This record gives sequence, structure tokens and C-alpha cells, in this order.
Amino acid sequence: MTPETMQQLIDLTYIIAVVGFILALKWLSSPASAMRGVLIGEIASGMAVVATLFDPQVSHYKWIIIALIIGAAVGIPLGMVKTTAVPQRTALSHAFGALSAAIIGIAEYYVGIGAHNLSRFQMVEIGLEVIIGSLTVTGSLIAAGKLQEILPQRPITYKGQNFVSLSVLCTAVILMLILVIHPEYTHVFEAMVGVALVFGVMLVTPIGGADMPTVISLLNSYAGFSAALLGLVLNSKVLVVAGALDGASGFILSVIMCKAMNRSFTNVLFGAFGQLQVSAVKTEQKPVRSASAEEAAEMLNSSQLVIVVPGYGLAVAQAQHKLRELYDTLTKRGVDVRFAIHPVAGRMPGHMNVLLAEADIPYEKLFEMDDINGEFPQADIALVIGANDVTNPAARHDKGSPIYGMPILNTDQARTVMVIKRSMNPGFAGIDNELYYLDKTLMLFGDAKVFLTSIVKELSAVHA
Ligand code: TAP
Repeated sequence: MTPETMQQLIDLTYIIAVVGFILALKWLSSPASAMRGVLIGEIASGMAVVATLFDPQVSHYKWIIIALIIGAAVGIPLGMVKTTAVPQRTALSHAFGALSAAIIGIAEYYVGIGAHNLSRFQMVEIGLEVIIGSLTVTGSLIAAGKLQEILPQRPITYKGQNFVSLSVLCTAVILMLILVIHPEYTHVFEAMVGVALVFGVMLVTPIGGADMPTVISLLNSYAGFSAALLGLVLNSKVLVVAGALDGASGFILSVIMCKAMNRSFTNVLFGAFGQLQVSAVKTEQKPVRSASAEEAAEMLNSSQLVIVVPGYGLAVAQAQHKLRELYDTLTKRGVDVRFAIHPVAGRMPGHMNVLLAEADIPYEKLFEMDDINGEFPQADIALVIGANDVTNPAARHDKGSPIYGMPILNTDQARTVMVIKRSMNPGFAGIDNELYYLDKTLMLFGDAKVFLTSIVKELSAVHA
């Protein structure tokens, strides 16, 4: 095969891979097609990697194999974590992605310096890429540490923090501009990398642990843009497109998450909500009505429409399979069971979809908030399992509430509300939930898995 034909084949493979990436993003946006999306994304990435290996510029296969082995040794255990640990796992993968982009950018700088052929434009590309890559590495590591609770979850703030942080970022940019004029100043380059790494830490420490999922999505976006810039440095069109898709989708996801929580970017980035989680934890000592598993089973058995509202507690308890058993039992008895999915229920986008899909709950029974909210008045029971903030009516009317304006699931409009949770403790936003004090609400105190097991057991004793 002539080198020209080989190059054409490589380019064609890249184009097919890019189409694959776009299809992957499209299919990933629906639970029904998500598996297909993952598969096509994997195939497209594999194709891009194989095509790159055939590139005539690529040699030193020994190093590539070593890198593959190290990557697999890190990636395989990372892929096997529990679903509740996915946010911190995602933060770690961003850290690794950004680290590879930063390291390649650093290598390109030294290669360019050695060969005395670094143009000003290339220096800007490398500088920006290395700054974004480096700050993403340390920012993502701090985010992962907070989510894993190795580092304090509470936001670490001090007076004049934003000014100091901004000055550090400006310093990194100034160092880059010096390099554009004098690329040979290697010590300036090293200082720029160091300052960017420090800025990553300063960027994430003031943000509360609870806000980390949104921050991670933003860091995902940074890692993507850094890869896109690296694509420019390496003259790799496929990397430019893949990085831009990654960067843009991460950014869009952050916007969606902020909208679903009715919060602005600045509000997330300056930590107002996260602080509340530790400081404003207060629960009122008002009476609530509680019920046993036996009573709950009887009421569920005599219902026609039950809307289940899953939340973070369902994931913590890993109760999705028990929920599936409850769904099967009730459905067999003619009860219409539907699932209401709030866009930010849980701790990561699509958390509830993933959890329910794991238990093989039919997709057609999963309804987005806007599609099911009108159904609650017809529901005999709204069964809230480990969800809290996403059902709090205060979001509609209490202007002083941190969740004011956040769209919620209209559980309070159902004829009866049942809430499975362990205590009266608040959820993510650290606030009391008015729903629990309504006359129509029954609190089912206990771990979600244990309580659902008891309900299923009681149901088998109740006549259909
Ligand atoms: P939360 O409001 O956090 O409430 C979860 C509830 O689960 C808690 O009140 C807790 O009460 C209960 N729970 C914990 N472990 C349990 C167990 N083993 N068994 C039974 N219950 C258990 O959850 P939510 O309603 O899903 O709301 C999500 C929150 O996270 C929102 O405020 C949202 O803005 C925020 N957030 C979400 C995302 C994404 S993308 N999903 C990103 C950032 C922030 P007990 O301790 O009493 O059991």
C-alpha cells in the first residue's frame, strides 16, 4: 500500500470515528439507547486509536504498549466501583485525561524548544493547553478527594479569596505571554505549569463537597477543551473534534444541572449552597405520622396508581433490586406503577436512570419530571424512596429557602404520600422538608432496602 493510500485510509477512519462520537452523544441522551451509545463510543475510540497507530509519524511502539498496560491497570479497577462512587471515579478519570493532555503538551514544548521551531501561535496553543490541563488535574483530584471524603467536604474560604485566585490565574496567563515572546525561557514555562497546578487547587477548595457533581461536569468540559487544544498542537483533527465534543457536552451538562437546581454558575462556583449543607442543618421538632411495613403494604395493594420517586437514598441503600421486586409484585396485582425521575435526583446526572436500568425496570415506566408532574393528583400513593430535596414544596413558595425556584416533583398532590428514609435528617441542601408534616404523609422510617424487603414480604401475605 502506498503512503498516500494509507493516509487516506487513516483519514477515512477518523471521519467514521467522529461520526461515531456524535452518534454516541446522541444515543447517550436516552436510557433506552444509552447502551448503544456507550458501545458506539467505545468502537469509535478504538478505531481512532488503531488508525493513529498506523500513522507514519508514530513509532516507539514499545512505549505505547507500556502506556496501554499502565492505562489498563488504572482503568479496569476504576471501572469497577459501585454506582454511588461514580462521581469521584469520574473526577479521577478527568484528572487522568487532563494529566495526559498536560504531559503531552509539556513534551511538545521541550521537543519544539530543542528543535528551535516553536512559532508564537504554537506557543499560545501549548501554553493554553498546558494551563487548562494542569489546573484540571489538581482541581479534579481535589474534587475526587472531597467526594470520597478524604478531604473536608466543607468549602474552605477566606476574605479576598476570589481576588487572590484570579491573580494566580492571571499570573499563569502572563507567564504564558512572556513565553510567546521568549519561548526559550524554560524556567518560565516550569513556573507557568506550577502556577496552573496551584490554581486548580484554589479553584475547587472553596466549593462545598455537595456541589462537586456540577464542578466535575465543568472540569470534564475543561479536560475536553484541553484535549481539543492538544489536537491543534499535534495537528490531529480527530482529537480537536473529540475534545471539542467532550468540552461542549460537559459545559451543556453543567448548565442543565444548574438550571435543574435553579442556580447560577457563579452561585455554584462560589460555594453558597455547599456551605448550607454543614451550617444550616436543622430539623423542626413537629409531629409526623409514621407507618409500618404491614400498613404500607395494605395501602399499596389497594391502590390503582402508584408513583415511585427515587432519590439519593435509594442508591445509598442499593435498594434498586428490591424496588424491582415491589414493582413486579404490584404490577402482577394490577397496580399501575410509574417512576418519576427528577433531573437532579441523586448525585450525578442520570443517577436514577442508571440505578433503575440496573434493576431492569422497564424504560417506558420511567417518566421525566415534566411528563409526570400532571399525574400526581390522580395517584393514590406517591412513594418517595430516599428522595428529599426534589420533593420539598418549599421550593415553590419559600423565598428564603436555598432551593427556592428549583422545579420539584409534585408528590404533595398525590392522595397519600409515603416516604422511606431512615430519620428526619435533611438531604443535600441541608433543609427541612415540609412534605413530611402534611396530614396525608406517612413516614416509613428505615433503610430503603430493609423497608422495601419488609413491604414485599408483607405484600405476599396480603390477598391480591
Ligand atoms: P437528597 O435531598 O440528598 O436526600 C436523600 C435522602 O436519602 C436523605 O434525606 C436521607 O435521609 C435519605 N437516605 C440516605 N440513605 C438512605 C438509606 N440507606 N435508606 C433510605 N434513605 C436514605 O436526595 P434527592 O432528593 O435525590 O436530591 C438530590 C439533591 O442533590 C438535590 O438537592 C440536588 O440539587 C443535589 N444535586 C444533585 C446533582 C445531580 S446531577 N443529581 C448534582 C449536584 C447536586 P436519612 O438520612 O434520614 O435516611
